Amino acid sequence: MNTDNVQIFKTARRLLTGENSSYLLPEEMASLNVKRPLIVTDKGVKDAGIIQPVIDNLKSNGVENIFIYSDISAEPETHIVEACCGTFEENQCDGVIAIGGGSAMDTAKAVAIYSGETRSLNELFGEDKVVPRKIPLICMPTTAGTGSEVTNISILLDVQAQIKKGIVSNELLPDVAIVAPELTLSCPEFVTAASGVDALVHAVESYLSNFASEITKSLSIAAIRMIVDALPIAYQEPTNIAAREKNGYS
Ligand SMILES: NC(=O)c1ccc[n+]([C@@H]2O[C@H](COP(=O)([O-])OP(=O)(O)OC[C@H]3O[C@@H](n4cnc5c(N)ncnc54)[C@H](O)[C@@H]3O)[C@@H](O)[C@H]2O)c1
Repeated sequence: MNTDNVQIFKTARRLLTGENSSYLLPEEMASLNVKRPLIVTDKGVKDAGIIQPVIDNLKSNGVENIFIYSDISAEPETHIVEACCGTFEENQCDGVIAIGGGSAMDTAKAVAIYSGETRSLNELFGEDKVVPRKIPLICMPTTAGTGSEVTNISILLDVQAQIKKGIVSNELLPDVAIVAPELTLSCPEFVTAASGVDALVHAVESYLSNFASEITKSLSIAAIRMIVDALPIAYQEPTNIAAREKNGYS
């Protein structure tokens, strides 16, 4: 049987979009039975005041034991993933919540599949080297660009080899992605511009890809239209939530 033309559409198992969707995190965590979350973020996102309202909302919904790891660099490094796993295990966390751009999300995705793993992280680079993930994973992007919240890859910098490598596995697809425009309002101009162009390039590339299907092509065209419309507005009016929302769908 020739199955060469079969296409498989992959995304997060559950995808929430739209204004104020970040406030539904407690419900999403409860449905995955997460009671001791590790929030993976970075200093810039924390300093922008994005994390505190999320914590306040979790606390007002009865989640008391919340742990934060924010020591993440722009190009996430393998030793950062190991350190973050240490925080996860020491605090007996039971779920990983990424709140940040691609750097925080790629780190969190790696932590969710690496925690409890006996092999070295280096042995997981490449395709399908990962065992089934047991740790719940929720991704909440704060930039509108990488799409890491819906991809099956984590890109990390191998410091010794000085190259970026990917762990590719469907186990990296989050259980839940929450694409909430309110989390992107504080994005600095250059991050808005750079991540917006990143999204535009993804949309063009995916349209031209040999693996494009009718489903992905229609999404690529819609994304190109939305980015061209919304990105200049989001850049000029950073708190324009409608522009941020349109940009975030891309
Ligand atoms: N896994 C994937 O599918 C995939 C795809 C493309 C890129 N990537 C990876 O994504 C990373 C880049 O991610 P990125 O472009 O989202 O940037 P980033 O996560 O590196 O963040 C860039 C800067 O913006 C700041 N920032 C982010 N959101 C903010 C907000 N709302 N308010 C204020 N500051 C904010 C951060 O603190 C940081 O200083 C790279 O490591 C790249 O390899 C992953």
